[in-house]
Amino acid sequence: MPVRWGILLIDLTGFPMRLLHGDCLELLPTLPDNSIDLILTDPPYYRVKSNDWDNQWDSEVDFMQWCERVLIEFSRVLKPTGSLYWFAGPYMAAKLELLIGQHYQVLNHIVWVKRAGRHNGCRKEGLRKYFPQTERVIFAEPKQAGKALNSQINAQAKYLFKPLADYMNNLRKSAGLTISECESICGSTTAGHYFSASQFHLPSQQNFTKLLEAFGNSEKYSDLEGRYRDIQSEFLNLKAKYEHLRRPFAVTKDVPFTDVWHFEPVAFYEGKHQCEKPMALLEHMVTVSSRPGDRVLDAFMGSGSTGDAAIRLKRDFVGIEADADNFEMAEARIMKSRKGRELQSETPGQACSAAQSEVHECLAL
Ligand SMILES: C[S@@+](CC[C@H](N)C(=O)[O-])C[C@H]1O[C@@H](n2cnc3c(N)ncnc32)[C@H](O)[C@@H]1O
Repeated sequence: MPVRWGILLIDLTGFPMRLLHGDCLELLPTLPDNSIDLILTDPPYYRVKSNDWDNQWDSEVDFMQWCERVLIEFSRVLKPTGSLYWFAGPYMAAKLELLIGQHYQVLNHIVWVKRAGRHNGCRKEGLRKYFPQTERVIFAEPKQAGKALNSQINAQAKYLFKPLADYMNNLRKSAGLTISECESICGSTTAGHYFSASQFHLPSQQNFTKLLEAFGNSEKYSDLEGRYRDIQSEFLNLKAKYEHLRRPFAVTKDVPFTDVWHFEPVAFYEGKHQCEKPMALLEHMVTVSSRPGDRVLDAFMGSGSTGDAAIRLKRDFVGIEADADNFEMAEARIMKSRKGRELQSETPGQACSAAQSEVHECLAL
């Protein structure tokens, strides 16, 4: 049974969707280690907006130190298979990319180009520098990413390809040749892989013939090749089974797959958050970098746009926002989205009533 305690929505059943009102540096430590699949967040930019939240620091150094504290907490909660998207203004993006690179493996510095915006109207001649038409997003993964997958895959490969590696090694040993002598015979250092179970490579027909000549043997290449193809397809099936140990990245030719993105900014409306991000952009990130049922975190919710996108796409969501008005706006938006999702549910009885207390109960599902 969920409880609304002061300004904090909590749930007593464990770790469901949570909307937390307060400073993210105080609230992030309440989240468990390795509990988040995707961090999609749009932190303050540092003196770009006139709002208090963008002018909290005495200097750029203070701002960067604060960002580092946030990044360290993010590292703790993000799973090794997780992804981080960090929005940045064009002036601080380079410095943030370097900082993020100290704690994560930076994968891309994405340039979001906006067709509409103030650049169309401003008096460019008076600026003495180019007016930014872009926002940046630093896309990164944990430094230990891929380790779980690689250790599973290597263990499976070792087991599956062992008979072929043994076969090659038996031929080699009965001819009294070392692996480096075989590499010289083939004229390639990769020939060592013909004798390794964990990184087995099928010899080319030409290299196999050279080796057989050296071994004084007359095996058939087609036998080896046939056995290899069978084992390889078994190996690929196993690899698919371990797909969940891999960072999701689901792009197709129909969506942006380069590091230059074109999305329209959100048009002005009464009550709009100063930095509201467009739904199409957020849905793209959520779809590409998480799977249904995954948990998405935004520690700077603003209007709640990330939570809205995550819930529409059937992900769980954890959101934090310090400003009371923004929190209220985010909470209302996310609850509406959550309600929509529940009403869409095919299972009878899952839909929530419109009553506020019951909406809160939905948060605990
Ligand atoms: C750039 S805006 C996010 C806008 C959001 N992406 C959207 O689409 O509406 C940054 C937000 O971070 C919030 N914020 C600033 N400092 C914070 C802190 N220490 N902890 C949590 N939220 C904070 C601000 O109140 C602001 O709403």
